[in-house]
Amino acid sequence: MPHTCQICGGALEEFLDLGRQPLADAFLTERDLPDEFMYRLAVGACPACTMVQLVEQVPREKMFHTDYPYYSSGSSVMREHFQRTARTLLAAAGPDPFVVEIGSNDGVLLRTVHDAGARHLGFEPSGKVAAASMEYGVHVRNEFFDAGTAADARREEGAADVIFSANTICHIPYMRSVLEGIRTLLAPDGVFVFEDPYFGDIVAKTSFDQIYDEHFYFFTARSVQAMVAPFGLELVDVRRLPVHGGEVRYTVAHAGARTPSDAVATLIAEERARGLADPATLRRFAAGTARIRDDLRALLRRLRDEGHRVVGYGATAKSATVTNYAGIGPELVEFVCDTTPAKQGRLTPGMHIPVRPAEAFADPYPGYALLFAWNHADEIMAKEQGFRAAGGKWIRYVPDVHVS
Ligand code: SAM
Ligand code: TMP
Ligand code: ZN
Repeated sequence: MPHTCQICGGALEEFLDLGRQPLADAFLTERDLPDEFMYRLAVGACPACTMVQLVEQVPREKMFHTDYPYYSSGSSVMREHFQRTARTLLAAAGPDPFVVEIGSNDGVLLRTVHDAGARHLGFEPSGKVAAASMEYGVHVRNEFFDAGTAADARREEGAADVIFSANTICHIPYMRSVLEGIRTLLAPDGVFVFEDPYFGDIVAKTSFDQIYDEHFYFFTARSVQAMVAPFGLELVDVRRLPVHGGEVRYTVAHAGARTPSDAVATLIAEERARGLADPATLRRFAAGTARIRDDLRALLRRLRDEGHRVVGYGATAKSATVTNYAGIGPELVEFVCDTTPAKQGRLTPGMHIPVRPAEAFADPYPGYALLFAWNHADEIMAKEQGFRAAGGKWIRYVPDVHVS
């Protein structure tokens, strides 16, 4: 049975199989071990609409629930990014705007909107992160955004001048329901602005670890343009962002409401010239992924055989893909350090490497640190200068395996 495209119903062409994988954010206690949920992580592209997507869906309640452990405010660079983004959105909106966010998490963006005294609403299904934002005074509906909840919000709270979403739209397989919801909730001259990892950057860097259960879609300007059009919506602007290893911020409006900027046509032409949707490009990406897996496993085995200590840095969701695909367990990586209390004292999904607090890193420093949080490299290098000073070396695997 061929898998079907969740956007247009076309037959997906699978190009990468990352094997049996756990939920990337399911950090475990010993008690959870016998019931660990696994699924097949594989990616396909739709020849009809070009959307790249997972071939298997994980039920949303398994990923986003009370204990969802990702707190957006854990990175100072991301906090600043979202403070700036909130100010930019408010400055571009008309007087007294109503700002809605999908996936507002711990309120990393809406806190700034709240502080500016603007009307706002977050949709956030995950209980504890939503509670963290409510404690600050942010207005949140503790539910999933879809056509039904969007219609409720429209009726109860009015039309949105800005709908913003970061690192969430690509998480939602039921996209037709989401876009129907956007059409219902968005004011006639409003904008829907969302930013997600850019497939163009994922291919350029062979960052296959961006692929995991929560990241269902891998967008390009071309696939987003085709995705929104059937819903009376139009892609009117795109802007590349440096965060999370390379993202694009897409601006969408009701069709005909705004004139698309030249940036849209320029990026789509660049994607065509690069052959981003071509089977040959996707095959090269899959081959590069296997090469990184082999190189990383060989390096870690050599270091172990030579008696070196290797510690992981950042218990990212991305690291679940790398460790499970490459078979990297506690015999190769002693522990992973992470600043998130909800992850500490637990075991990483699938490979069961212990997660320890950030302070464990220097107690004492290992010889090598495997940088799982490579997207936060600048922030981490700035605060971990003592590691290199003590003779420590960083191992990276994006865009290739190297030690420095
Ligand atoms: N926007 C934050 C950021 O960029 O750091 C959070 C991103 S986090 C990776 C994804 C968030 O989306 C989670 O907090 C999750 O609970 C939420 N989410 C998942 N599906 C959703 C849906 N249908 N509607 C609203 N939020 C959703
Ligand atoms: P992300 O790549 O999905 O944003 O996840 C980053 C993870 O790394 C998150 O669990 C927090 C952790 N982290 C650290 O442990 N130290 C740091 O300095 C930063 C920036 C993140
Ligand atoms: Zn399609």
